[in-house]
Amino acid sequence: MTSRLRHLTTLEHLPRECIERLLDRAIAMRDACAHGTRKLDLLRGRTVLNLFFEPSTRTRTSFELAARRLGADVVNFDIGFSSTSKGEELYDTLHTLEAMHLDAIVVRHKQSGTPEELVRHAMSGVSVINAGDGNRAHPTQGLLDALTIRQHRPDFENLVVTICGDIRHSRVARSDVHALSALGTGEIRLCGPAPLMPDPAEFPNCRFYDDFDAAIEGANVAIMLRLQKERMASTDLPDEAAYFARYGLDVRRLARAAKGCLVMHPGPINRGIEIATEVADGAQSRILEQVGNGVFVRMAVLGEVLAR
Ligand code: CP
Repeated sequence: MTSRLRHLTTLEHLPRECIERLLDRAIAMRDACAHGTRKLDLLRGRTVLNLFFEPSTRTRTSFELAARRLGADVVNFDIGFSSTSKGEELYDTLHTLEAMHLDAIVVRHKQSGTPEELVRHAMSGVSVINAGDGNRAHPTQGLLDALTIRQHRPDFENLVVTICGDIRHSRVARSDVHALSALGTGEIRLCGPAPLMPDPAEFPNCRFYDDFDAAIEGANVAIMLRLQKERMASTDLPDEAAYFARYGLDVRRLARAAKGCLVMHPGPINRGIEIATEVADGAQSRILEQVGNGVFVRMAVLGEVLAR
């Protein structure tokens, strides 16, 4: 039995048992709250702060819903209207907010390593949950992606999972690989144009491809990624039509995958750039299921780190 997590900053090095416990707990949360129609009081009297320094639709909203469904109070810190715009430093903001009493901080930041920095600098017993830092980690996305796959294909050791797109700048790809590796996935393929691929030494368990037709051949799961333009130099931006022709998931390419291949994307999706509309909205798409699972996974993580 692995010990309870106090913080969740990355899935890297988390044992399989711990990841499975969080996925099991997500399903238990889903059932206990009857898909969100019944509120629980597990975290009554606790306060969760959403501290997002980068935009978000799915992650921020689902953390808020998750905390409220567990009975916690939620504060959404609005960076644009905060004293950050007057030059207040991150740690002064942290200590100011801590002084008002918080139990958990959910943080997203463009700088990789910010969640660990907050863990080191926090003065109170506050728990820190990473909602995405730079290109480094997005652990709750890794968990919800693993949960979505497990609901359809629990036999991870038999699966070929292809992750295609801007792997180099993707915190989702990193957390997905950490979760999938821990769960014993048979084969993980990473595919993208050379400038958007990471150093292979960072992913010793993965096979690298630059030809998407080859990478998707026989795959059971295809995870498509957005071009992270906000993390690229303007000179590195690929031509979008040429990119879609080589790396976009369309009906023809999906036919090369294994029968029933799950189509996934963390969102936001860019139709006609990394995925065709017919595929994003098609019968094999699990994209909205991923979004729904995000709430249950975040309930599980909040329940884990804030359990008394
Ligand atoms: N997948 C994801 O992190 O989406 P948001 O940026 O909308 O939170």
